[in-house]
Amino acid sequence: MVTLPVTLPITLDRSLPGSLGGQLSGRVRDLLVDGTLARGDRLPSSRALAGELGVSRSVTEQAYEQLLAEGWLEARRGSGTYVAATGAARAAVPTRVGARATPALVRLDAGTPWIDPRHGAGWRRAWREVSTARPPRGYDDPRGLPELRALLADRLARTRGLAVDPDEVVVTNGTTDGLRHLLTVLPPGPVALEDPGYRAAVETVRGLGRPVRDLPALAPVTDLRGAVAAYVTPAHQHPLGRVLPGPERVALLAAAGAAEAVVVEDDYDSEFRYDVAPVPALASLDRGRVAYLGTAAKSVAPSLRLGWLVPPPALLDRINDRRVVTHEGAAWPVQRAFLALLRDGYVDQVVRSARRVYAERAPRVAAALAPYAEPAGPVAGMYSTWLLPEPDALRAQEAARRAGFGVALLSGYCRSSGLTGLVVGFGGVSDEELDRALAALVSGLG
Ligand SMILES: Cc1ncc(COP(=O)(O)O)c(C=O)c1O
Repeated sequence: MVTLPVTLPITLDRSLPGSLGGQLSGRVRDLLVDGTLARGDRLPSSRALAGELGVSRSVTEQAYEQLLAEGWLEARRGSGTYVAATGAARAAVPTRVGARATPALVRLDAGTPWIDPRHGAGWRRAWREVSTARPPRGYDDPRGLPELRALLADRLARTRGLAVDPDEVVVTNGTTDGLRHLLTVLPPGPVALEDPGYRAAVETVRGLGRPVRDLPALAPVTDLRGAVAAYVTPAHQHPLGRVLPGPERVALLAAAGAAEAVVVEDDYDSEFRYDVAPVPALASLDRGRVAYLGTAAKSVAPSLRLGWLVPPPALLDRINDRRVVTHEGAAWPVQRAFLALLRDGYVDQVVRSARRVYAERAPRVAAALAPYAEPAGPVAGMYSTWLLPEPDALRAQEAARRAGFGVALLSGYCRSSGLTGLVVGFGGVSDEELDRALAALVSGLG
């Protein structure tokens, strides 16, 4: 039986950066991923496709060769090029962006930091130390390693204006793990979270079976009645970037006091201010009302899965008592390595280097996008958020995707707020990638 070639619904855009062959292989890959092309489909010959697209045959040959090498396509002698019949092609899809699987996009993630490779020796030294240290015999201290908690307490006082005893610090597996430990000891009831806001926190709250209440991220919080907790990012509202102004901090604490609710302060990236000194932690205003959450995700690496929680003193014992029974502490090797990284100044070094890089990149992002979009907040951290009508944001996102970059839509962070635009991370990419991604975004907006 002769299989006729399919028609590929593809057009190429010569104004985009990158080779036409790369663009074409990306478009065909998308059709494979979203199921438009199915196993066994026959593709047009490279000559026919070149004619249809108005490009030279070397462009279509390059694209087919790439997809053959990736296992998506197979060449059948004397018959043509087909969508591969083996399972290899679909298994090769590594990432999911939004609802749709997309192969190997370089993601401009808001949460990915830049780590200076020049600090690699410090990193290796810390792990060598772990390899020669003896693990504790049992589950050890449920609050976390005492030496690590002492270093964290010292750092909180030094960098966040937060005076705490090491025994008030609980080492966690990251921000949402700390949130979970806290919520587990709170009475039943809804949790108020910023909208737009941190999706992982929303999912954690829902996962614990608690209703989510929306707190408009840009409005003062004056009423928390009925909520058991309010989750906020006062140093750098995620993802709009605003610093919670002093009077609104006072109002928030008053509202929490009146409702007997706990304020959960997610202090994820406060160290990355490069215009002014970091704003002191909200918890420094009222230790009895605020649970403080810190993370190693921005200063060292998200994949470390390490964080710390300073609960209000009244909740500390209940949290630790549970942990004695459940053994839900952070893994000893990770704690032990982080202890060495903190003690030897590695964390301070990487934070200083990264701050310099962000201070240079943030204005580059702003210079590229400001002609088309309005910044949602001040320049800080490792991402910036840009307000745009949704169709413009979608066009820019699509142009970036075609150039190989994943950029998040602001609408993805919204529940009831209708804000639209783009959230552009600039930490986890190289300078060259950032330039290409910005050029692609601008090509989609221009
Ligand atoms: C608002 C916010 N909080 C916290 C974190 C870090 O979470 P974790 O400590 O669980 O890695 C992130 C990471 O992207 C974030 O965006």
